[in-house]
Formats: sequence, structure tokens, C-alpha cells
Amino acid sequence: MLQQIKETAEWIKQHTAMRPLTAIVLGTGLGRLAQEIEIVEAFPYQDIPNFPVSTVEGHSGKLIFGRLGGKDVMALQGRFHFYEGYNMKQVTFPIRVMYELGIQNLFVSNAAGGMNPDFEIGDLMLITDHINFMPEHPLHGPNFPTGPRFPDMHEAYDHQFLDMARAIAKEKGIRTVEGVYLATQGPTFETPAEYKMYHIFGADAVGMSTVPEVIVAHHCGIRVFGVSIITDLGVEGKIVEVSHEEVQKAADAVQPLMAEIFREMVKRI
Ligand code: HPA
Repeated sequence: MLQQIKETAEWIKQHTAMRPLTAIVLGTGLGRLAQEIEIVEAFPYQDIPNFPVSTVEGHSGKLIFGRLGGKDVMALQGRFHFYEGYNMKQVTFPIRVMYELGIQNLFVSNAAGGMNPDFEIGDLMLITDHINFMPEHPLHGPNFPTGPRFPDMHEAYDHQFLDMARAIAKEKGIRTVEGVYLATQGPTFETPAEYKMYHIFGADAVGMSTVPEVIVAHHCGIRVFGVSIITDLGVEGKIVEVSHEEVQKAADAVQPLMAEIFREMVKRI
């Protein structure tokens, strides 16, 4: 595994001279943020040695190097989900490769169902914490030398990044909400009883990604910032049928606002 990570990182280093400190993971329906990046280099996943290949609709699968907010960034356009059949080592492989490439900051985004009754469809939720409800742990197995065997998780989402995002949203008049993201394995959306249970657990939003990536990044000492786009509501009395297309549509509408926050943050780091 470590060998593969180093091999992949080496291949990328040979194919680009860029060494960004910040990486962005673009979630479901959020690939258009990539258009805001002045792209210098884009590698389709299938061209990168050892990289898994993304299968889900709305993920075109490219590793991008470019400039955003006047700074160098790399971006994963399309991520790997557990529900697609990948194991957690594969799901988090790109994060380990990006760590090997020298990133210090990771911005993650996703589409999620809101369970907090104050949320509305199209809200941007700054992720303050998470609940790992996935059936497999990304750090299962021999410990990676990037961090301790028993990693502390009391601040998985960097509080300085959160403060920065709050300030930017205020300055720009962008409505944001905040909350805890819970990750399920999917691919089913939740039953009303499940939404209710997750809310009782203490979660404000639920989705099928992000948490494994954040755990691995945190174990590597990478500072993390996360945003969920609330694409549907799992709030009692407001639950309606949800489809992948609707999730995409709702995500599409808010992409520019998320892009604005990300761009401004990159500029200020
Ligand atoms: N549940 C799980 N994943 C999701 C949802 C949801 O309601 N919306 C977008 N991704």
C-alpha cells in the first residue's frame, strides 16, 4: 500500500511541477467548481497509476492542478464511495497520495440530507464535527506512520478555518448554517425512521462520503475544512421523495456560493 502511494505520488510529481499546499475534494454535483479553477494540468483518474476509477453519475473523475484565488490548488473532481464497492483503503487512497505530494490543507464538499429543522434546501452547512457511521474504518489494520495508532479526534475540522469561513460568509452576505455530518454507507437514502434516529444521535446532516477522507487527512496532520450542501430534507413532516437528479439540481444551484467561500479561503490561507 505504502509502496503504491509513493509510486503514484512519484508519477504525479514527474507530470507536473506544481506543488500546491491546498487540496479540494469536489462532491456529488459540485464538479463545476472546477470551472472556477484556472486549470494548468488535469489527469483523468484512469491515466494515474494505482488510482481507482470513479463510476457514479456526476463525477467525471479527474485530478486537477491549477490556480484559485491566486494560489496553487489541486482538486479531486469526483471521489470514491464505499457504496460503489471500493474498500476504505481505496476510498482514501487519493488523500494519502495528496499528503505524499505535500498538501497541508484539505477542503471537502458533499451533498447531504438535512435533519435539523432550521435547515432549508440549498443551505450551505459548515461541518463542525462528524459521526462515523460507516461499516469499515479507514485506519483499520497496521498503523500508517503518518500519525498515532489512536488518533485524537476532538478537532477534526479546524476551528480557524471555520472562523475564516464564518467571516467570509458574513462579509459576502452568504447564508450558512452549521452542524454535524453523519456518514452512512449508502446507497439507499434514509427512511423517515433513520433520519429521525440520526438526528437523535446528534447529526444535522447525513451523506455517504467525506468522513473516511477526513479521518485519514486528520491522521496525517492535514487541516480540514468541510461544507455540506443541503440538497433534501429528512425533517419530520417535510420529508419528500429524494432522487439523485434532485440532489444534483439542488447542488448545482448553490455551487457558486460554495465556490466563493472556497476561493476566498484559499486566498487568505
Ligand atoms: N441521505 C444520504 N445521502 C445524501 C442525502 C440524503 O438524504 N442527500 C444527499 N446525499
